[in-house]
Amino acid sequence: MTNNTLFTPISIGGMALSHRVVMAPLTRMRATVPGNSANEMMAQYYAQRASAGGLIIAEASQVSPDGRGAPCTPGVHSPEQVAGWKRVTDAVHAKGGRIYLQLWHMGRLSHPSHQPDGGQPIAPSAVAANADITTADFKRVPCPTPRALETAEIPAVIGRYVHAARCAMEAGFDGVEIHAANGYLLEQFLQSRTNLRTDRYGGPIENRCRLVLEIARAIAEVWGAGRVGIRLSPYGIANDSGEAEPMPLYSHLIGELDKLGLAYLHLIEPRASGAGQREVDHKDVPSAANLFRPMWHGVLIAAGNFKGGDAAAMLAAGDADAIAFGRFFISNPDLPERLRRGANLTPYNRATFYTRGPEGYLDYPTMDAAAAE
Ligand SMILES: Cc1cc2nc3c(=O)[nH]c(=O)nc-3n(C[C@H](O)[C@H](O)[C@H](O)COP(=O)(O)O)c2cc1C
Repeated sequence: MTNNTLFTPISIGGMALSHRVVMAPLTRMRATVPGNSANEMMAQYYAQRASAGGLIIAEASQVSPDGRGAPCTPGVHSPEQVAGWKRVTDAVHAKGGRIYLQLWHMGRLSHPSHQPDGGQPIAPSAVAANADITTADFKRVPCPTPRALETAEIPAVIGRYVHAARCAMEAGFDGVEIHAANGYLLEQFLQSRTNLRTDRYGGPIENRCRLVLEIARAIAEVWGAGRVGIRLSPYGIANDSGEAEPMPLYSHLIGELDKLGLAYLHLIEPRASGAGQREVDHKDVPSAANLFRPMWHGVLIAAGNFKGGDAAAMLAAGDADAIAFGRFFISNPDLPERLRRGANLTPYNRATFYTRGPEGYLDYPTMDAAAAE
């Protein structure tokens, strides 16, 4: 047990935060196309959700053009994208907030229409996801079979993450989060159903973890380990992912990551796996934070279906040090203050999660604005 509450200050990688209500990374498909850049509307959205001493983890952003697999999602690899994100980080910092960026490569969860050369998406192995994907012109189609990366191509993949990490630094972020969850490229390497490789990046657990660890070390060299977080979803089943026996895989991975002195480990609770796609609350599943806490000696952020009381209980139990909120941060721009006051939460409208434009994006009122109406 601890005495920590959502409003006990915390230091993450030397960065002082005044509360533990973190905004989870949320894809909203509002980037400017062509260019896939963050824009003024996104700067307003993040500024609305910034709070003094609060941490935002900005939405998944492609590390390279071939990492894209959804329309109107931002990247972080071109000068134009750096300039777009700079507006966002400036707006958040002006409110005293802190902001990390999530680094993303979708791997097999892509389509030739998103690929710079119109070719096959890349993945550890040529195994198609049993899922649908949105093409660049917004059609829903089954995921195509990806192309397996050659071993000789892997250093270039790591290089793309390093380049994106440098771009994020130039854009003024306070740190970066490596997206190794929810069925995307790095999780495809981790898990045995999607990684059938026979080289040093496939087969035994040590090999399947190699790419994630190499990327984590390479990005830590750019940023310093204390400014690099990582997100994992053990027991998750989003986007046709899932490891039959997660414990050996994730115990090894988390044990190795623990040695790097990263800013934080961000775990998605399995009960919320797939929350981006639909309303889910998987029952009778373990708590990832509770299971893996003993293996992780740094800051642990838990996410997935938290409301307020349950978040406080998890901190009090010591299973996590901070709680990330996703959907309720969409519909409550002043979520930390609402939780502090024990106020009601505005329900979110799933229909506008991924639409373009300001509706369902900039128009959720703060408590004070709602009271004044
Ligand atoms: C609209 C939407 C977009 C999301 N985009 C991302 C993303 O970009 N990166 C990520 O790691 N998770 C993403 N997620 C998952 C959330 O970060 C979070 O783990 C999930 O919604 C469960 O938390 P919640 O119950 O507080 O919403 C998304 C979820 C939603 C609803």
